[in-house]
Amino acid sequence: MTDKKALLTIKDNGQDKMIELPVYSGSLGPDVIDIKSLTANGFFTYDPGFISTASCESKITFIDGDKGLLLHRGYPIEQLAEHSDYLETCYLLLYGELPDKKDKAYFENTIMNHTMVHEQMIDFFSGFRRDAHPMAIMCGVVGALSAFYHDSLDVTNERHREVAAYRLISKMPTLAAMAYKYSIGQPFIYPRNDLSYAGNFLHMMFATPNSESEVNPVLARAMDKILLLHADHEQNASTSTVRLAGSSNANPFACIAAGIAALWGPAHGGANEAVLNMLHEIGDEANIDTFIARAKDKNDPFRLMGFGHRVYKNFDPRATVMKETCNEVLNELGLHDDPLFKIAKRLERIACEDEYFIEKKLYPNVDFYSGIILKALGIPTEMFTVIFATGRTPGWIAHWHEMISGEYRIGRPRQLYTGPEKRNFIPEDQR
Ligand code: SDX
Repeated sequence: MTDKKALLTIKDNGQDKMIELPVYSGSLGPDVIDIKSLTANGFFTYDPGFISTASCESKITFIDGDKGLLLHRGYPIEQLAEHSDYLETCYLLLYGELPDKKDKAYFENTIMNHTMVHEQMIDFFSGFRRDAHPMAIMCGVVGALSAFYHDSLDVTNERHREVAAYRLISKMPTLAAMAYKYSIGQPFIYPRNDLSYAGNFLHMMFATPNSESEVNPVLARAMDKILLLHADHEQNASTSTVRLAGSSNANPFACIAAGIAALWGPAHGGANEAVLNMLHEIGDEANIDTFIARAKDKNDPFRLMGFGHRVYKNFDPRATVMKETCNEVLNELGLHDDPLFKIAKRLERIACEDEYFIEKKLYPNVDFYSGIILKALGIPTEMFTVIFATGRTPGWIAHWHEMISGEYRIGRPRQLYTGPEKRNFIPEDQR
């Protein structure tokens, strides 16, 4: 319980109505005002885009946008990026603690030994056009997993939830690589359980049946870091979508498919693809000022993709790590003179010195550099958000599981209605 209270006074035509609302404190971050009692008092709150709304209580990830702080179960993202790896971070998000040697080995072996998908899943792909966007394919095939795994659909069953979590983390890279291979008309490459999670993904993406292929460990480490940096991010649009879908007791595969659909938007996870398209459109450092001017022009819908964030009003700590990784990959591949990277670095410098971006606190976000790394790894732009979705899967599952394993109700927001008042039907001959 709480002894903190918020006192709301509604002044209406000289009539004052006082409503007392409980205030709760978390372990970090702002206090929250519990507004549940407002409905009984004849009011809703109004917060389109949920700029000031805490939708739930959570112990998974904390972001301080002013300090550029991102904690997963209390551990700073910079420390996880330097000392941990993606699967260990998946375990941390799911179970709340870093695994000991035995638990880590069990988790990794379980994930890496369930990377194959049902052979009949292959038939889904042939129904898509070869030029289908891979995110369209992922929305379809991830939801379709629920057609195969009837033994992990009961959301009230703890074991079903855990099995579904493992299956999703295991199989997302396989489905992602299949979507890519299908788009280029190459045969699917089966997963290899002897490789690392990220190494196996690069293997399934770039190996071919007619030649031996080795995965470059520097590139595998970079891919692992990209997945780690995308693993979770509090109540972002796609995670909130997963929670809302899950609140209706939809099965976990359907909930993750809903998250994938929400992530696809260029304002969200589609931004990494949009950053590359923007850098291509800029084409030359000489054109940067024109695009900066367009980004500042209220009458121009153009926004500088990879900049700005709902929460980070300072730097995005993930972008800092991503920039280092970008340098490592470009140096490893001898691409440090990559023209797009040079445009990106100059764009970042100009934007961060520009009064408009400083005043609106628009800094590079996680998507700004990830696209350049992925391009350097030979991954086509359309696959960027698929990789974001793959990385974000443990975060989506952790939030879904946190809600389902606790007390929850179906999410059902209300509205401010400004449409027509009640009126009678008009017969056609009187319209
Ligand atoms: C991700 O939520 C998450 O955690 C998301 C994410 C995650 O890990 O899940 O971090 C991943 O989605 C990162 C964001 C990727 N998106 C982009 O890079 C697309 C470009 N960015 C913008 O679309 C925008 O910044 C958003 C969508 C990211 C944030 O939008 P908000 O919070 O609604 O911010 P806003 O639109 O209210 O912007 C405030 C002002 C506005 O101007 P005014 O109305 O105050 O005059 O800043 C302007 C905006 O016009 N602005 C930009 C801008 N972003 C905001 N102007 C130019 N370029 C931009 N990129």
